[in-house]
Amino acid sequence: MKQIFSTLPLVFFLFFFQCTPAFSQSLAPAPTPPVLAPPPPTPAPVPPPPALVPTAVVPALSGPTNINAILQKAKQYTTLIRLLKSTQIGDQINSRLDNSNQGFTIFAPTDSAFSNLKPGMLNSLTDQQKIDLILFHVLPSFFSVSQFQTASNPLRTQAGTEEQFPLNVIATGNQVNITSDMVNTTVASTVYADKQLAVYEVDKVLLPKGLFVPPPPAPAPLKPKKLPASNSSDADDITTPVN
Ligand SMILES: *[C@@H]1O[C@H](CO)[C@@H](O)[C@H](O)[C@H]1NC(C)=O
Ligand SMILES: *[C@@H]1O[C@H](CO)[C@@H](O)[C@H](O)[C@H]1NC(C)=O
Ligand SMILES: *[C@@H]1O[C@H](CO)[C@@H](O)[C@H](O)[C@H]1NC(C)=O
Repeated sequence: MKQIFSTLPLVFFLFFFQCTPAFSQSLAPAPTPPVLAPPPPTPAPVPPPPALVPTAVVPALSGPTNINAILQKAKQYTTLIRLLKSTQIGDQINSRLDNSNQGFTIFAPTDSAFSNLKPGMLNSLTDQQKIDLILFHVLPSFFSVSQFQTASNPLRTQAGTEEQFPLNVIATGNQVNITSDMVNTTVASTVYADKQLAVYEVDKVLLPKGLFVPPPPAPAPLKPKKLPASNSSDADDITTPVN
């Protein structure tokens, strides 16, 4: 009897020991689905940074600069935060800020900018279109307000090509006007700026034309060729009775 009591704690210990791995496994974060390309393997400060191309994802570690936290603090950006999270672009930006010298400039549309879109417009976008829309608001380098004055148009954004996604700025003094072909707006304020990341408030969502027009190489549907006119000189004429 005494022996049973003395081994009981051990039995309980083993029981818990067996249970703990399963328990901690259920707390482990679920694997994130792939969205954007991982950051460049080695930080390359000199050549232009590669574009954020949607492919596999590496979950970003939390770092000193966190775009979601910056926007959270500034209030009025809940829609943008939600989109940065659902597209995982926010994590990708944070991770690049941590692991490379790459800078970013982000045009941050306010919640009222999103609510001024046509009703249902945002929900009608596919996941890929949402990614393109957000990437269109992200420039792969740092721009201070005064640097916009010497920026060459069209600006390179993280979305598609300049032809499909043209974004131009005209800056005079502290005023920075932005046009995307479909939208004209002005930088309303600086939300955040360090030497690597600039976040500017815009009161309109920058809509790129490329979001709504299919890209040029869309294959044309096959059309049956028109039959040659009866007076054409095609070989068919041989069998075509001529009056
Ligand atoms: C920028 O936009 C504002 C408001 O639309 C306009 O008054 C101003 O002339 C524009 N500036 C330039 C340089 O185009
Ligand atoms: C944007 O501004 C330019 C220049 O003032 C004008 O030609 C264009 O029509 C405007 N576009 C829109 C969508 O308002
Ligand atoms: C058929 O004849 C008409 C009248 O002569 C001419 O205008 C037309 O170009 C011809 N079409 C073809 C396919 O040769």
